[in-house]
Amino acid sequence: PVLVVDFGAQYAQLIARRVREASVYSEIVPHTITAAEVAAKNPVGIVLSGGPSSVYEEGAPALDEGILELGLPTLGICYGFQVMARQLGGEVAHTGLREYGATAATVTDGSGNALLDGQPGAQTVWMSHGDSVARAPEGFEVLASTASTPVAAFANDEKGFYGVQWHPEVKHSEFGQQVIENFLHKAAGIPAEWNSGNVIAEQVARIREQVGSARVISALSGGVDSAVSTALVHEAVGDQLTAVFVDHGLLRQGEREQVQNDYVAATGVRLVTIDAVDIFLDALAGVSDPEEKRKIIGREFIRAFEQAERDLIAEAAADGQPIKFLVQGTLYPDVVESGGGTGTANIKSHHNVGGLPEDLQFELVEPLRTLFKDEVRQIGRDLGLPEAIVGRQPFPGPGLGIRIVGEVTRERLDLLRQADAIAREELTAAGLDREIWQCPVVLLADVRSVGVQGDGRTYGHPIVLRPVSSEDAMTADWTRLPYDVLAKISNRITNEVPEVNRVVLDVTSKPPGTIEWE
Ligand code: XMP
Repeated sequence: PVLVVDFGAQYAQLIARRVREASVYSEIVPHTITAAEVAAKNPVGIVLSGGPSSVYEEGAPALDEGILELGLPTLGICYGFQVMARQLGGEVAHTGLREYGATAATVTDGSGNALLDGQPGAQTVWMSHGDSVARAPEGFEVLASTASTPVAAFANDEKGFYGVQWHPEVKHSEFGQQVIENFLHKAAGIPAEWNSGNVIAEQVARIREQVGSARVISALSGGVDSAVSTALVHEAVGDQLTAVFVDHGLLRQGEREQVQNDYVAATGVRLVTIDAVDIFLDALAGVSDPEEKRKIIGREFIRAFEQAERDLIAEAAADGQPIKFLVQGTLYPDVVESGGGTGTANIKSHHNVGGLPEDLQFELVEPLRTLFKDEVRQIGRDLGLPEAIVGRQPFPGPGLGIRIVGEVTRERLDLLRQADAIAREELTAAGLDREIWQCPVVLLADVRSVGVQGDGRTYGHPIVLRPVSSEDAMTADWTRLPYDVLAKISNRITNEVPEVNRVVLDVTSKPPGTIEWE
């Protein structure tokens, strides 16, 4: 792999993704990693990420000096660039000239160094720094500068050391991806060989080795991660796998059919559907508190899954092949953010897909543990899964249950399902699916307002549209949808959905509002 050393900002994941977009496998490691640990991973190159500190401050994250003596091609970015400069004998200073955001850079490289090869002399780069490299280390050639940063990029071909002060991993740096690709392919000579086909082959071999002839179960939620992890395991072990799908009655229109028909047709997976609609709706009767609803849905989900599990265990025991494994769709960001087993701080413990119980007696099979979401989608496509599943926007585990403000009833779910289907249909027809992160459609079941329809007065419920744009759901902004699309959705919902006589638009960012209403 190429190791991306994380100096504590949010950039390491982005860098790791960009390296993979260049068809080179990458892994994120903490900056506390030792030279021996690096060597043990057998890397083909190293990228030092940006970070929030000043290199000369006491306690600033440092790099084991031995790492730069391993003879590995290394690219330093922003803080990583400064760490490199300082450790190799250059000078980093607080110049008082800060640069933030889009900045004009001049490529001064006269000798056509590989790092900025093929790039124009004047370009826009994305900067975010207070300190600067005042003097490049001995043996380094300066490749670029800006108005306030004389050393904005450098290279030492002999040692395979390269660095840029700007952030090539962000899209605002005009030729950013090319800097990363030049480093990997031209400067470090790393071939572009990593792709989803290899990942599938490698994971299939790994799953077969882990599982042997035992049986495996998997919980399908209809979401991307569980759909792809299940399909991968099925590819590896065929009918040793049984997938369980719980219909809790809080699904959107067509979702059950999508899993039962389209997904099964595409994969050939052995599927057990648990129809738990009555159980869930009975348990939710009379409850309108959001947290209580979430708890009930989580609890009933585990119950339904455990029941299915008992039945399958009994069946498996009868033919002598016990169930030993459970598939989980854990992704790489979850692994990195939970410390990744490398001793970094536990920022956020990942929650189980579908809220499965933690004390299950199974060993986990997690074939997506090294992958980012967009890679998971690509693998799903390669495995032939329907686009409606692999391209799906996020949808919360508790489903429509937390999109009805008020008590959840069968009638209300039907109304919301219709309104939601109309909104989704129109957004798709307008080609807006890629622009929005997701668009919750919420029924304010306890609110009524007066309207007029035909010749009569109506007294119905409002539907809220909550279109949001986001990178990661941690923060979000409301999406400025075209008025004609909003008008069409509003017209159709008020005409086609009984008891809904008003459609309103949520124009709140997150924070302060969360994406979901409950
Ligand atoms: P909030 O409402 O917290 O939502 O801004 C952030 C993202 O998480 C989704 N979400 C959930 N996903 N189980 C899930 O699997 C849940 O209980 C849950 N609650 C919210 C939400 O749709 C958004 O994408």
